[in-house]
Amino acid sequence: MRTQVVIIGGGPSGLLLAQLLHTCGIDSIVLERRTRAHVLARIRAGVLETGLIDLLEQAGAGARVRQDGMPHEGTWISYGDEAFRIDFAKHTGKSVMVYGQTEVTRDLYAARDRTGGQTEFEVEDVRIEGADSDAPAVSYLQTGQRKRIACDFIAGCDGFHGVSRTSIPEAKRRYYEKTYPFGWLGILSETPPVNDELIYANSDRGFALCSMRTPSLSRYYIQCEAGDHTDNWSDDAFWAELKRRLPAEQAANLITGPSIEKSIAPLRSFVCEPMQWGRLFLCGDAAHIVPPTGAKGLNTAASDVHYLFSALSRWYQNNDADAVAQYSQHALARVWKAERFSWWFSKLMHRFPHHSGFDLRMQRAEIEFLRSNQAAQQAMAENYVGLPYDD
Ligand code: FAD
Ligand code: DHB
Repeated sequence: MRTQVVIIGGGPSGLLLAQLLHTCGIDSIVLERRTRAHVLARIRAGVLETGLIDLLEQAGAGARVRQDGMPHEGTWISYGDEAFRIDFAKHTGKSVMVYGQTEVTRDLYAARDRTGGQTEFEVEDVRIEGADSDAPAVSYLQTGQRKRIACDFIAGCDGFHGVSRTSIPEAKRRYYEKTYPFGWLGILSETPPVNDELIYANSDRGFALCSMRTPSLSRYYIQCEAGDHTDNWSDDAFWAELKRRLPAEQAANLITGPSIEKSIAPLRSFVCEPMQWGRLFLCGDAAHIVPPTGAKGLNTAASDVHYLFSALSRWYQNNDADAVAQYSQHALARVWKAERFSWWFSKLMHRFPHHSGFDLRMQRAEIEFLRSNQAAQQAMAENYVGLPYDD
């Protein structure tokens, strides 16, 4: 087999890249380790920047998000019983869209079906060959048979646990990493959201987040101990703990119900530099992870896809090799800003085991500064709605 670009990973990064390339007549084959049903069942991101919405539109997968997505022009930050709003529209003229990653992935698969793009599911033992040569290839096992695809370029869109990043020789890459001493316990419930905008809550008992997917589907998170397990959390225990972390007014209004999904996610900051080696390019979680506070993971994956798509289309359309050579440099400049914002917002909102009395006063002073200072609110809003791609 031969194609122009082999894309490893059929999550949102891989599919978005495949469909953007298709708009320029560039062929690709997507290789996905799991089944399509498995990929579509993963509950993850919920807040999309306008840059990602525009890319979905460009890829022919933007109709449903425009129709069913919920634009949010602000968000709430609470500490104890106090709460204040950051007005995105006032500070940036922009909003974010609340729309589930599951739906984004569904829309991208539907677009791929419409255009007849090739996606191979349940591939095993994916191996990258000759990434530092002019004739790379990818081989894999499918139903016990080894298959091989020769190509011009390889896009590693296979998430944090994929094979692409580790295919770069150790001497050619460097990792920057920080782990946080807690996780997020999340539930999805068929109940109306407690508020019409998201609430990020700092409380003495730890962080909580009230989010949503639709007007009748809520997504809530609470900070939990690292290594905690969902078996330790009945629905009743979750709701009781969430209420203790919200301002009294919101706690009183919270409508509870059975959870339809419950999971724990660890918090980590991670960047691999560079994001390319020869003709292999990393995109999204394969190259970097942010702690979820501020919803930057999927959005930063999308900006990588934007830079890689732009570089590859210039290669094929204008014989321009410079953009491809500079992909990592372009992508990383924005990645590090998203890392900084997610790290800052995580530090501001969580309880850390090592926090001293002084640390707690500093955290409170910073929240109160944000509450009262328009410049600080503007900086927060600009980061939250998404920094420009060409910054
Ligand atoms: P993935 O979604 O991990 O997709 C990678 C794909 O590659 C998967 O389908 C996987 O099966 C496949 N794969 C892996 N290994 C191989 C292999 N060897 N061969 C072939 N295929 C392989 N981000 C936001 O922007 N906003 C949010 O609100 C937000 N909330 C989040 C909440 C939670 C609880 C979590 C856990 C994450 C959240 N994120 C959020 C982060 C976001 O979900 C990720 O950044 C996003 O999924 C990254 O997309 P990706 O395509 O790069 O990687
Ligand atoms: C969601 C997740 C986030 O990390 C965030 O900051 C906002 C919303 C969510 O899953 O809805």
